[in-house]
Amino acid sequence: MANVVVVGAQWGDEGKGKIVDWLSERADVIARFQGGHNAGHTLVIDGKVYKLSLLPSGVVRGKMSVIGNGVVLDPWALLSEIERLGGQGVHVSPETLMIAENTPLILPVHGELDRARENQNSVAKIGTTGRGIGPAYEDKVGRRTVRVADLADEPTLDLRLDRLLTHHNALRAGLGLEAVDRAALKAALMEVAPKILPYAKPVWKVMHDARRAGKRILFEGAQGSLLDIDFGTYPFVTSSNTLAGMAATGTGLGPTAIDFVLGIVKAYTTRVGEGPFPSELFDEDGVRLGERGHEFGTVTGRKRRCGWFDAVLVRQTCATSGVSGIALTKLDVLDGFKTLKICVGYDLDGQRLDYLPTAANLQARVTPIYEEMEGWSESTAGARSWADLPGAAIKYVRRIEELIQCPVALLSTSPERDDTILVTDPFAD
Ligand code: IMP
Repeated sequence: MANVVVVGAQWGDEGKGKIVDWLSERADVIARFQGGHNAGHTLVIDGKVYKLSLLPSGVVRGKMSVIGNGVVLDPWALLSEIERLGGQGVHVSPETLMIAENTPLILPVHGELDRARENQNSVAKIGTTGRGIGPAYEDKVGRRTVRVADLADEPTLDLRLDRLLTHHNALRAGLGLEAVDRAALKAALMEVAPKILPYAKPVWKVMHDARRAGKRILFEGAQGSLLDIDFGTYPFVTSSNTLAGMAATGTGLGPTAIDFVLGIVKAYTTRVGEGPFPSELFDEDGVRLGERGHEFGTVTGRKRRCGWFDAVLVRQTCATSGVSGIALTKLDVLDGFKTLKICVGYDLDGQRLDYLPTAANLQARVTPIYEEMEGWSESTAGARSWADLPGAAIKYVRRIEELIQCPVALLSTSPERDDTILVTDPFAD
């Protein structure tokens, strides 16, 4: 059986929710492997809108859903999401949701630290979601985090809190924050523990058994490849590896289990938060992309920055994630543009580059080299076959494939799941 990893191939918000839902109907297990409740996945099923941040999309369809160890988990955010979904008629229970026992927790101290740092004027803002993602990952790597399994044993929890708070209280003093109320934090954790522990499982084993039993596994990436901690536009990135390779270490299943990597790619480019964005538009075209594409963040409601399609970046992320095929989304947002531009290279002081350099000062200085293409006046919204698309739109898609050196596996033409043109089935054996 084929196992599929879905990753965003730009800066996130590529429309992963719909594609993951579309694939999850045929998957047996759906696993999140990185990120936390900074993600915002919107699913539209039979006209009903579901917004997920932390839960794998499979929960909406009652599929076995897994939160892997690569995720950072805010237990209170998880419970409120479960409750909110319950209000929409989606029942989440330990029958359908598993959380890896070795998943690190996001605690209130992490959110406070994240926001305190973002509010400082002395250093440039990252533009985080303020959810404590970065500080939680720092504590994981710093070997002082509280993990899900620690909630089951009070003496272990005490040891973890001692180590964690020694570090945080020193840091907080420097930032002018009050020391953490240890007793209140411990009490809150003891209170939440019995609600979280029923979901805790050795996920690596469950995944291994599922694979041996021939189940189809869908790995659901969050954020996008350009926000990757190693390969993104550092430091304007998230704090996890968002590339497809993380699906393996983020769940405990080895890389040989991955058969297909689907990169989700928007037909233009957007970004939330700070950082370099070579093809960003500051003119009417940019405003138009934002309005037609409803480009506002699902989690923070922030306006997304918009720009032309950047083939250089997507070629790069297809390489770093080993993308087998892309799902191209939101093509209909480009309907009605007289001409379209695609970034095909960068100019750096008169020198042409075919990749984004690593150094931050160079990333900020490159300027896009554009190729112009004819637009189309017809509507592509809701197209379900190539024959429904105008010639100029087909040309645009074909040119993208050529430039990014990766084929289109799916084309999504509206938020509705059936408005999809399937070229290659990622789950095909
Ligand atoms: P953090 O993940 O909250 O630390 O934020 C770091 C950067 O990643 C910021 O630029 C955020 O706007 C961005 N980011 C985090 N999650 C998402 C997402 O789901 N979509 C798009 N951008 C995101």
